[in-house]
Amino acid sequence: MTQIIDGKVISKQIKDELKEKAASLKSEGVSVTLAVIQVGNDPASTVYVNNKKKGCEYIGISSLSYELAEKTSEEELLSLIEELNGRKDVNGILVQLPLPAHIDEDKVIKAIDPVKDVDGFHPQNVGALCIGQPGFVSCTPAGIIQLLKRSGIKIAGKECVILGRSNIVGKPMSLLMLKENATVTVAHSKTANLEEVTKRADILIVAIGKPKMVTKDYVKEGAVVIDVGINRDENNKLCGDVDFDQVSPICSAITPVPGGVGPMTIAMLLNNCLESVNLQK
Ligand code: GUN
Repeated sequence: MTQIIDGKVISKQIKDELKEKAASLKSEGVSVTLAVIQVGNDPASTVYVNNKKKGCEYIGISSLSYELAEKTSEEELLSLIEELNGRKDVNGILVQLPLPAHIDEDKVIKAIDPVKDVDGFHPQNVGALCIGQPGFVSCTPAGIIQLLKRSGIKIAGKECVILGRSNIVGKPMSLLMLKENATVTVAHSKTANLEEVTKRADILIVAIGKPKMVTKDYVKEGAVVIDVGINRDENNKLCGDVDFDQVSPICSAITPVPGGVGPMTIAMLLNNCLESVNLQK
């Protein structure tokens, strides 16, 4: 029988562990605060930001909310980040992406103090991950490692194929799987004979952003399939990058959409917020 990997259950376990950790920090007189910045009113971003703030409340850390107008200038945003970088009572800074087109995202990411960069997007944190040094790790890939480990799936020595090479998911995912001693291939939209490549995978991680693109023709029988996609299908129903109905009967384990990878991102963000206390020591 195919194992359905339940991200809601696993993320709740992690949040409950973090709640205890936050309480123990509080008893030592250490309080943790995350500053969350949203520019404009993109409805999806508003949902994500609200969930992040709710997550903080659940585990017992404070959040400061900055809801800035769409027309906010790059300079104004950079000066807010500079102010938050300097505040001793702020541990983490999160700028929700995407930003309006007139603001340079790279410049904003680089402006965040790396020891407060709980998203793990700053080049210093990406570099630290690359050479195995301490730093913040991007939340979605870190969440996928937790999903695999807590579902009893062995990683070492396995063939792992990652479909997608984004800075936020595909690239850090490849580094984390390498750290866990998997043999890693990163495939993407220009990969030749894609189906042959993805069929090599014992663990297939899909973050390509195309609804139901991965059909059973891309998957080896008995593989573990992790679906990072969040899309709408032809009936406006949420779906992943994997055709769940086709693939689930032939794989050994799979994440559903919704309720798979999604809930893990916030759990790992909260983990990074508590971790920030150590990195700031
Ligand atoms: N937009 C979509 N995913 C993310 C994320 O993980 N962090 C931030 N800051 N913005 C996002």
